[in-house]
Amino acid sequence: MNVTVFGTGYVGLVQGAVLAEVGHQVVCVDVDELKVKQLEQGIIPIYEPGLTSMVKENHAAGRLEFTTDAARGVKHGQVQFIAVGTPPDEDGSADLKYVLAVAATIAEHMDREQIIINKSTVPVGSADKVRAEVKKVLKERGRHEIGFDVVSNPEFLKEGSAVADCQRPDRIIIGTECDDTIEVMRELYAPFNRNRDKIIVMDVRSAELTKYAANCMLATKISFMNEMANLAERLGADIEAVRLGIGADPRIGYHFIYPGVGYGGSCFPKDLQALIHASDNIDFDAKLLKAVESRNKEQKTTLFQKISQHFNGQLEGKNFAIWGLSFKPNTDDMRDAPSRVLMEALWTAGAKVQAYDPEAMEEAQRLYGSHEHLSLCGTKEAALKNTNALIIVTEWQNFRAPDFEFIKTQLSEPTIFDGRNLYEPRRMVAKGFTYYSVGRANPVLPLSLSPSYASTVIS
Ligand code: UDX
Repeated sequence: MNVTVFGTGYVGLVQGAVLAEVGHQVVCVDVDELKVKQLEQGIIPIYEPGLTSMVKENHAAGRLEFTTDAARGVKHGQVQFIAVGTPPDEDGSADLKYVLAVAATIAEHMDREQIIINKSTVPVGSADKVRAEVKKVLKERGRHEIGFDVVSNPEFLKEGSAVADCQRPDRIIIGTECDDTIEVMRELYAPFNRNRDKIIVMDVRSAELTKYAANCMLATKISFMNEMANLAERLGADIEAVRLGIGADPRIGYHFIYPGVGYGGSCFPKDLQALIHASDNIDFDAKLLKAVESRNKEQKTTLFQKISQHFNGQLEGKNFAIWGLSFKPNTDDMRDAPSRVLMEALWTAGAKVQAYDPEAMEEAQRLYGSHEHLSLCGTKEAALKNTNALIIVTEWQNFRAPDFEFIKTQLSEPTIFDGRNLYEPRRMVAKGFTYYSVGRANPVLPLSLSPSYASTVIS
């Protein structure tokens, strides 16, 4: 099938590449000339496992093209994906200006029936706005007889496994009430719909809300666990034991119940805010969503609070090693990353930071390169040199079994603040560390000094 994708950001580029990989003929349109040139040369602006080779191979095979020529794009596709950004406005609502600009562009060049597929995460009611925009432009051009449909087809890909998620979706949501459109969408997604029928057809507004509901549900699970972790710390319980205990109930499950330093990234914070804002607009008080967001904001400050408390508020002139800057492993994305809240708080308190991340160094350089109290280090070992303590913010695989003896030689006192519960507290104490983690006794005292705690752990 001939497919056109407007927008070569995260969603558009991955979707375009994956559709080309199964044999569709894909043209990706973007207004950014430099980006288009770079994509043609195989230079991919984001780090995503498997994406670069997939783009290069399909481009070389002539199945994946990049252009700034919107007219050519509209002419090419039997379906037109809109996959451009919906950044939050100052008040938190999703800004539709790019989506509507693409809708107008499609309408300007439309000379036959079209299916317009909305892939961007957009508030409920956006498909109606796209429809109105297309109608308006068609009317202005005297082509109001051309038929079209607007489908909501949200993506559920995760950064770091975007290609795999797109190739093997859990579900394919199709929001439309038009039978012809459903048939075309089934054909488009047939290569991804083989083992069982993953296609769920619904009305367009429900499809739009499904995307928000999914992300808000996942964010709720995380904030819930973070709240339990805070309670566990204060009640002398171990959240990791609690996590195993509750996850065993299949109604709860083990996914997305890891406590930590709060969720970040491009989706959860933005989507929560957008749904809260949309609720406020219709005079509905989304109490639960507001609590989820507020717990998350607070959670992002907990590591700093522990550090500050440990040093009795004397952080001026202290030097900290930070491992992990991206909002989660396998991405270089630092949007809304907990590391940013932490570093900014440390700097405000007069501390210095030596940071390392396996992928996000360029992004950190772009964001904070000129900050006098930040040194970006080439290895995790280099980041430790002459620091007061180590802080772990992102759970990259190669942080899980470091050389603890080496760490001890680099820190002025053997103290680790772990925002991701990577290590076993009792083992850390046995190795001579003061070890702070999330939702577990803080810090765990050496067993000999804490008989009652030790006995509870052992029994
Ligand atoms: C998310 C959704 O998972 C995806 O379906 C949607 O399309 C886009 O938003 P993403 O933002 O890439 O994907 O990251 P995800 O892996 O979901 O993690 C989000 C955040 O939650 C990260 O900051 C992560 O550290 C945090 N998290 C996740 C936890 O703190 N605990 C958990 O148990 C799981």
